[in-house]
Amino acid sequence: MRQWPDDRIAFGGDYNPEQWPREVWDEDVRLMADAGVSFVTLGVFSWSWLEPTKGEYEFGWLDEVMDLMHRHGIAVDLATATATPPPWLSAAYPEILPVDREGRTLWPGSRQAWCPSSPLYRDFALALTDRMAARYHDHPALAMWHISNEYACHNLPCYCDTCAATFRRWLERRYTTTDALNHAWGTAFWSQRYSDWDDVLPPRLSTTFNNPTHVLDYSRFGSDTLLDFFLAEKEVIRRHSPDVRVTTNFMTMSTFRLLDYHDWAPHQDVVSTDHYVVDALEHPRAELSFHGDLTRGLAGGAPWILMEHSTSAVNWQPVNPAKLPGDTLLDSLTHVARGADTLGFFQWRQSRSGSEKFHSALVPHAGEDSDRFREVCELGAVAGRLGELVGSRVEADVAILWDFEAQWAVAGPCMPSAALDYATAAHAVHRLLRDRGVTCDVVHPDADLSRYRVVVVPTLYIVSDDAASAVAAAAEAGAQVLVTYFSGISDPDDHVRLGGYPGAFRELLGVRVEELFPLRVGEQVALEGGGSGTVWSEDARTLDAEVLHTYADGPLAGRPAATRRPVGEGAAWYLGTLPDDDTLGALVEQVVAAGGVAPAAEAPAGVEVVRRSSADGSWLFVLNHTDTDTTLTVAGHDLVSGRDVGPSTTVAARTAAVIREA
Ligand code: GLA
Ligand code: ZN
Repeated sequence: MRQWPDDRIAFGGDYNPEQWPREVWDEDVRLMADAGVSFVTLGVFSWSWLEPTKGEYEFGWLDEVMDLMHRHGIAVDLATATATPPPWLSAAYPEILPVDREGRTLWPGSRQAWCPSSPLYRDFALALTDRMAARYHDHPALAMWHISNEYACHNLPCYCDTCAATFRRWLERRYTTTDALNHAWGTAFWSQRYSDWDDVLPPRLSTTFNNPTHVLDYSRFGSDTLLDFFLAEKEVIRRHSPDVRVTTNFMTMSTFRLLDYHDWAPHQDVVSTDHYVVDALEHPRAELSFHGDLTRGLAGGAPWILMEHSTSAVNWQPVNPAKLPGDTLLDSLTHVARGADTLGFFQWRQSRSGSEKFHSALVPHAGEDSDRFREVCELGAVAGRLGELVGSRVEADVAILWDFEAQWAVAGPCMPSAALDYATAAHAVHRLLRDRGVTCDVVHPDADLSRYRVVVVPTLYIVSDDAASAVAAAAEAGAQVLVTYFSGISDPDDHVRLGGYPGAFRELLGVRVEELFPLRVGEQVALEGGGSGTVWSEDARTLDAEVLHTYADGPLAGRPAATRRPVGEGAAWYLGTLPDDDTLGALVEQVVAAGGVAPAAEAPAGVEVVRRSSADGSWLFVLNHTDTDTTLTVAGHDLVSGRDVGPSTTVAARTAAVIREA
C-alpha cells in the first residue's frame, strides 16, 4: 500500500480549486508551502465540474491540479466526488431524491440530496468512481482514496418507496420469516402482526409512537445500506487501484453518530473522521477528547486521520464564535494526543460565495497577512516537528463501552424519559477521568476487555448475552467494572429482561431494581453525606453488595444510589443516578485507584495530560487549557517549542507541550 507521508504529522485539508480562477492556484501552492501543507483532499463536491452534463466528462482541470500538487510535493487524498449529484442528474431522475418521515421530498439545492437505497443513484455514482479510479490510479500525487463524504450527514433516514422495498429485503435476510419478525418487533402489541412482507413500511409519521424495535431496525438498515454503498465504491476503486488506501470520513462527534461505525471501521484501510467544536455544549473540549478516544477505539488502537476540523468559526450553528488565540493549537494537539497522525481542516481557502463563505479556513478572507494565517503556518511547523511520534499508540488502562445501537435505542420512542441521553454518563465519566489525567479507550462491548484494569459500562440499555458475560468475566479476572444507570435493561431486540433491572447485570452487581424513577428536567435528589443526583434514579435493593451512597430525600430516600460488590479478582460497582461532579469525580477516583490505574502525569485541573508511546520512546502531551502557566515534573525534549525541558517544565497558559520523555 502506498503510504501517507509519515515523517511528520500530515497537515492539510479540503482543497476546492474549482471555486477559484486559475491564477489563484499558483498562490495556493506558494501559501501551502509556507504553511507546511503536506496533503489535500480534492474533489469532494466536484461532480458537476467533472461531469457537467450526462456522460460528458471534463477532467482537464483536475489533471492540472493533480499535476500541480505533485510538482509541489503535496499528497492527494482524492475523493470519488460522489457525495452530491449534479443538478442534471436529480432533474432527469427525481426518484433519486430522499423523502423525510412526513413524506416530504428533500429537493436538490444544497447537498447530499440522494436516497441511500436508490439503485439509479448508485449506478451513476459507480460510473463516476470507475472513471476517477481508471484515470488517476497511477497518478504520482495520489496517496489515498476518499469515498463520498460524511455518509448520512443529511440524507438518513430516508423514508421513500425505494427504501421501503429495500428495507423489506433487509428484514427478510435478518429474520427469514414474518413470524420471526413479529416476535422481534413484539407485534402482538397494538395489532401490528404482519403476515406478508409487502405490508411492512418504513417507520413513517404515524398517529402516535412507532414500534420501537421497528425504529431501531430502521437505524440498523440505514447504516447497513450506506455501508453497502461504500463497499460497492470501494470495490470499483480496488479494481483499478489495489495499492492505494481507501477511507471515508466518519462523523464521530457527539451531534451525529447516525451510522454504526463499529461495522464500518473494519472496512477502512485507515479510519478517518471529522470533528468540529460545538459551542453549545457545556464541555466542548471534553467532548473533543472523548471523540478522539472513540475514534481510536474504532481504529482498534491504531493511529487515525483527523480529516476535517476548523481553524476558527464554523457556519452551521445559530451563533458561530471565532476561536481564541491558542485554541487551534490546543484542539489540534488534543486530536494528536488521542491518536491522530493527520491533521486535516475544512477547508484550504475560505470561500467567497456559497453556504460556507463564513466558515473559517486555513487561508482566511483577510488573506496571508493575518494572525490566523500566521497561526496556521506555526501549526504546520509544529506538525512537521512531531514526525517522530507518528505510528505510536496511546496508553489507556480504562475502557468505556460504547454501542451505537444502544444509543439509537435510548433515543427511540416511548422511553421512561426523553431527557435521558445515551451519551451523558459516558461523557461525564470520561471528562472526570480526563480531569484526573486518566486516559480511556472508548470501545465496543464486544472488544477484548482483558487488557483493561477498569471497564465502565454507561447506560448500556440494550446488551447481548455475550457482551454481558464478557463484562462479568472481566470483573472475575480482576477488572473494576462500573455499571451506570439504565444499563442491561433489554436484549438486542429491545425486549426487556425480566425479573428486575438491570437484567443483564443484576447478578454481577448484586443489585435488583424494582422500578425506574427518572428525574424531571432540572430536578435534583440529595445524597446522604452531601452531593446530589440528577437525570435519573432507580429503586435499587442490594442482594449482596456494599452500599456506597444512598438517596437522602425524595421517594427513594434510604435506597442505594451506588454500590460495590467484590467479584473474583475484581469488583462490580453500580451507579443509579448521575451525581454532581464532585461526587462522581470522587467515585471514579475510587474505582481507578482500586484498579491500580495511575494518571499519565500529575497535573492541575484544566491541564490535560495524555501519553503516546512506541518502541522508540514515549511522549507526554501537556495541554494547558487554563489561563495560567503550569509547571509539571517532567524532563525531556519539547517538540512544540523545540527546546530541552526539565527537571520541571512550565507550559504557558493556553498552549501545549509534547515532551519526548528522557
Ligand atoms: C462537513 C463537510 C465539509 C464542510 C464542513 C463544515 O464536515 O464534510 O464539507 O461542510 O462540514 O463544517
Ligand atoms: Zn429512500
